[in-house]
Amino acid sequence: MTDHAAPRLEILPVTGLPEFAPGDDLTGAIAAAAPWLRSGDVVVVTSKVVSKIEGRLLTVPADPEARDAARRRAVEEEAERILARIGRTVITQNRIGVVQAASGVDASNVAGDKIALLPTDPDASALALRNGLRERLGVEVAVVVTDTMGRAWRVGQTDAAIGSSGLRVLHSYEGAIDSQGNELAVTEIAVADEVAGAADLVKGKLTGTPVAVVRGLEIGDNTSTARDLVRPVEEDLFRLGTDEAIALGRREAVLLRRSVREFTDEPVAEHTLRRAIGAALTAPAPHHTRPVRFAWLRNRPQRVKLLEAMRDAWRADLAGDAFTEEQIARRLRRGDILFNAPEVVVPFLVAEGAHTYSDERRNACEHTMFTVAGGAAVQGLLIALAAEGLGSCWIGSTIFAADVVRQTLGLGPEWEPLGAVAIGHPASEPEPRGPRELGEGLVEF
Ligand SMILES: Cc1cc2nc3c(=O)[nH]c(=O)nc-3n(C[C@H](O)[C@H](O)[C@H](O)COP(=O)(O)O)c2cc1C
Repeated sequence: MTDHAAPRLEILPVTGLPEFAPGDDLTGAIAAAAPWLRSGDVVVVTSKVVSKIEGRLLTVPADPEARDAARRRAVEEEAERILARIGRTVITQNRIGVVQAASGVDASNVAGDKIALLPTDPDASALALRNGLRERLGVEVAVVVTDTMGRAWRVGQTDAAIGSSGLRVLHSYEGAIDSQGNELAVTEIAVADEVAGAADLVKGKLTGTPVAVVRGLEIGDNTSTARDLVRPVEEDLFRLGTDEAIALGRREAVLLRRSVREFTDEPVAEHTLRRAIGAALTAPAPHHTRPVRFAWLRNRPQRVKLLEAMRDAWRADLAGDAFTEEQIARRLRRGDILFNAPEVVVPFLVAEGAHTYSDERRNACEHTMFTVAGGAAVQGLLIALAAEGLGSCWIGSTIFAADVVRQTLGLGPEWEPLGAVAIGHPASEPEPRGPRELGEGLVEF
């Protein structure tokens, strides 16, 4: 396997080119300015001049606000997909598949009343220029059309190839062995992007030098184009853009929750649990009250003491119901999850602020109103935990042993337990599920 590195390279600016306008002969201008072109050279052209000669310019109003609006419209029109909006920056995938800021729409190096759109088919533009230079000068060159773009995880911009002809744009080292005997399994060099970056070192942005020649590389390929550098959607490491991911997360938050009853030993991070409880406490409640308390049983011996006291009370209840010892033992085992879970949180309702009426019926309604608010907060906690990647199961038992709970934890009679939530990292990743069939769950009047 050959290396993509050349023994020696020259990077030559093509000086003396005119300012280009729609319909101009770019091939003729380059042939005239660089009669020294040789077969084997790579001619690297800034996409801006290709845009200009191909008439990909928009006239925009002088008024800054109207001009900005026109620019934003152009960005959206050029976008195939909008991936993210970060402040005023819009990241898009354009029609040729390139992901970059503002769909490549740009006002630099064009007249004050114009903005430039990217060439419609830069690979075709590269091929046309390559064929033209062969006709004019009798040379077999490669052509790379470039644009300047940022990189997601690196500060600063570099030039990249958005069009290419006559150059193998990717050089794969798959299966090659380096000088230390290591197999290069995934190394694949984006040669055309490296050429674009190298040429920019002599083109610059202010000197009016939109074309450079990279001399010394091995060229010759009639199938490879810059399209090959666009990562296919199915290989996209960031399948969703930020906006799409946020929208999907919001849509699926409720569906993520499901009862998880087996946990790993991995500890639950304190700040994660605190964040989930903070989210749950935003649940709606009547009369602007805050009637929910989440009691986190952090003290193991105290947790065990509480659960054992509840178990004893439950055993006595079941024995009173004339269950056999075996039936009782089976039922008690259902409570094991609260002994074994890495963390347990007991939600309580403290219905302070409830209105009091002169009749019991309305008082009971008022209490129901607070109880459902407690349920909303617990569901909120379960959803927030699921969104944090934590599993949980809401266990009802404390509701049946309210006195024991209050006594063991030293709480007043106004503290009403709403069950207990077992929390931990799921032993197996819960299967995602979709919304339920509405069926009898939705009744329309
Ligand atoms: C108030 C309440 C009490 C519950 N008590 C228990 C329980 O004691 N033991 C248990 O395994 N699951 C308990 N669950 C969980 C339900 O069994 C579970 O939500 C139901 O099977 C649906 O499954 P899913 O949560 O995965 O959608 C309780 C749920 C609620 C809302």
